[in-house]
Amino acid sequence: MTVSETTATATATAAAAVGVQALRPHAEDAFAHELKALAAADDRPRPARWKLSPWAVATYLLGGALPDGTVITPKYVGPRRLVEVAVTTLATDRALLLLGVPGTAKTWVSEHLAAAVSGDSTLLVQGTAGTPEEAIRYGWNYARLLAHGPSRDALVPSPLMRAMSEGMTARIEELTRIPADVQDSLITVLSEKTLPVPELGQEVQAVRGFNVIATANDRDRGVNELSSALRRRFNTVVLPLPATPDAEVDIVSRRVDQIGRSLDLPAAPDGMSEIRRVVTVFRELRDGVTTDGRTRLKSPSGTLSTAEAISVVTNGLALAAHFGDGVLRPGDVAAGILGAVVRDPAADRVVWQEYLETVVRERDGWKDFYRACREASA
Ligand SMILES: Nc1ncnc2c1ncn2[C@@H]1O[C@H](COP(=O)(O)OP(=O)(O)OP(=O)(O)O)[C@@H](O)[C@H]1O
Ligand SMILES: [Mg+2]
Repeated sequence: MTVSETTATATATAAAAVGVQALRPHAEDAFAHELKALAAADDRPRPARWKLSPWAVATYLLGGALPDGTVITPKYVGPRRLVEVAVTTLATDRALLLLGVPGTAKTWVSEHLAAAVSGDSTLLVQGTAGTPEEAIRYGWNYARLLAHGPSRDALVPSPLMRAMSEGMTARIEELTRIPADVQDSLITVLSEKTLPVPELGQEVQAVRGFNVIATANDRDRGVNELSSALRRRFNTVVLPLPATPDAEVDIVSRRVDQIGRSLDLPAAPDGMSEIRRVVTVFRELRDGVTTDGRTRLKSPSGTLSTAEAISVVTNGLALAAHFGDGVLRPGDVAAGILGAVVRDPAADRVVWQEYLETVVRERDGWKDFYRACREASA
């Protein structure tokens, strides 16, 4: 066991002893009962070291009902084929790259895939402009290194190295934010499935079951392009924005419900109409045109993603629960919408005012919402 594992286990044990819950449990813990039921019902062949068959992994992501009556909640709402392609890729020798605009559930899908395939979503490298090569390869415990020289004991494996030696799924978040030369250290891992440790004259060979899921943001393209050598080692799956308003409302209400329960917020009985309005506003501003296609709109600088709609509604519910009567009302979401839309105080405010006065004000049944937005903008 490594030092970080020992610490993590100690923390988990301490937490269990005093009966506290993690603020955000890992997917494999939050949905442990579903994964267990799936494993029991799953009689299809499993690739080496996989906890479930590809079919069961796809069912875990997309939802379904099992013969024993267990309901598997959908984690990802989107095209089935896309999930099937992603899962299948993980069973091959090519790595998986999830690409898309912000808030399209790349991180979310990556976590759930790792949880379902390997039972562990924590072998994670977070990509930033400052990600060092050690985060992808390995580092050294300097006390041991100085005391005993380079040895296997002094080596601190990266999550990627651990995934290789244990035949697990490693995750790399925001791959294109990582500097190009650091990204390149992945090439040998992905093509040769080995990680040389020249200091010890050894190598760590990946065992079967190892694969990598990387995520990258469309908008970051150009920050650090993926080299073509690296790109060739990935199968790319592009996660789309929700195709229809109904699909987006469905995603937002499901996630808000889950998050609300984890925060002990009371369920809002009539939240749907406000959720629909938030989604409509976000979609219209994002698309630059009203739902009926009649009025062209200017788009604000922010991304107005599904993820932001989820957080606007969650904040609204918290406001309603703590300072209102528990019912989600226009006033509870107005400030959140304003905050998401007006990122640039000058330009975005003009866009928002224009939208408010020409679209929101004129829309049937939206008077209360218009008033709340006016108040929030004042
Ligand atoms: N199609 C979808 N199905 C289910 N949940 C979704 C979907 N789209 C967005 N979400 C929700 O949006 C939230 C944010 O998603 P996530 O953080 O994974 O986005 P991302 O694509 O990684 O964004 P970023 O590029 O900003 O990192 C999650 O809570 C996720 O549940
Ligand atoms: Mg992400």
